[in-house]
Amino acid sequence: MDPAREVNRVFVCSCFGVTEEQVKSHAEAGACTPRQIASACKAGTDCGGCVRRIQALLGRGACPRRRLADQGEPVLAELPEAA
Ligand code: FES
Repeated sequence: MDPAREVNRVFVCSCFGVTEEQVKSHAEAGACTPRQIASACKAGTDCGGCVRRIQALLGRGACPRRRLADQGEPVLAELPEAA
């Protein structure tokens, strides 16, 4: 089995079955905080055990628009959930 595919199936939030890849794709779409990730896919809204892991993923540069958020620019305009 391809090891890269295995990594893609790493679950971040077991309560909602959210994978690391899903968190990263929400981050790429503009979700820069655990709360925004929760709005996008519910991850972190049940037991909360995954919030630190989500924070760690976001902190590792998963969010290319973080700089916009830091500058006060709107970053969620392209998220369908935020529309
Ligand atoms: S593991 Fe994510 S809310 Fe429980």
